[in-house]
Amino acid sequence: MLLRDFPGAEDFIRIVDDAVAAGSDKIVTGRLRDALCRMIRERTVTMPDCVFEACSDHYARRELYHSEKHGYSVVAMTWGPQQGTPIHDHSGMWCVEGVWHGQLEITQYDLLEHDERRFHFEPVGSIQAGTGSAGSLIPPHEYHTIRNPSDDSVAVSVHIYAAPLVCCSMFHPVGDDWFEKGTRELALD
Ligand SMILES: [Fe+2]
Repeated sequence: MLLRDFPGAEDFIRIVDDAVAAGSDKIVTGRLRDALCRMIRERTVTMPDCVFEACSDHYARRELYHSEKHGYSVVAMTWGPQQGTPIHDHSGMWCVEGVWHGQLEITQYDLLEHDERRFHFEPVGSIQAGTGSAGSLIPPHEYHTIRNPSDDSVAVSVHIYAAPLVCCSMFHPVGDDWFEKGTRELALD
């Protein structure tokens, strides 16, 4: 179901459909990552104008497409200057994220130990992802933050999830690399 039309949408959907039919999570996410990089570099697809409009008080999530056949969901995210996420997971789903415009800082975390409520994370690497780059997340390596490091520019990323991500765990710092787990419903703009 195409929720927001954009030039090149048919090609975009065909390319993602082909990749998603490939088999294992590892192969699917690898193919999607390569396909996203190519589409961004070659500019064969144009995002709708709305995805370049930031919201002042939160990063925006706009769903572009939901595949009834394959189940996957495509969401464009718009990051105003310095907007970002707390540490979060993706509820155990694979995801591929491409930077469509601007630059994003992505930090991955390892879970060292936890009890029911409190989680101990260690940052294991941070990348500055520029326009035309893409990465994939395959559980259990799914804890991360995303942030737009710019003071004055908007960044846009395109996320392809195995299924619509409606809820995830978010972790809020309580000191000494320990975090308290919360659940957040994810709204769409
Ligand atoms: Fe994420």
